[in-house]
Amino acid sequence: MSENKPARVHDCDILELDRHHSRRKGDLSVITGADTVPFEVRRVYYLYDVPGGQTRGGHAHRNLYQLIIAAAGSFTVTLDDGRVKRHFTLNRPYHALMIKPGIWRTISDFSSGAVCLVLASDHYDENEYIRRYSDFIAYRKKLDNETD
Ligand code: TYD
Repeated sequence: MSENKPARVHDCDILELDRHHSRRKGDLSVITGADTVPFEVRRVYYLYDVPGGQTRGGHAHRNLYQLIIAAAGSFTVTLDDGRVKRHFTLNRPYHALMIKPGIWRTISDFSSGAVCLVLASDHYDENEYIRRYSDFIAYRKKLDNETD
């Protein structure tokens, strides 16, 4: 899934997942891999029991694609491409926020009982993270200069 230009925050959006609604039994949403989402899912993890006021994330990935879903409760995802920031409030289990590589993200405002479900395009690799904001800005500047 290579793209010529590095992704900007406006290339990251909410996808509406398949939703099977039953007034009597409740709702069910399904993700079956590349049929329903834009990449093959190779890892699933979730954040939960996040104390009120805590912020998670605070990093970027060089290559990873992710989908973030509020499986329960709500939280705010802030995306930053080094030039522009965008905030998304996630509070519907059938909404998935697609985050492309090279985007700084923080997750905050967790409601009590919130579960942040993350589907990722690859296995965990610490070397693939950019964890310092100044490194991220330098990385983006280089990337953007090469392709502007
Ligand atoms: P981290 O990515 O820093 O969490 P967040 O960005 O949500 O604050 O991960 C927290 C810890 O969990 C860190 O020690 C790495 C570990 N971890 C794994 O071992 N595997 C994984 O797939 C993930 C996402 C994290």
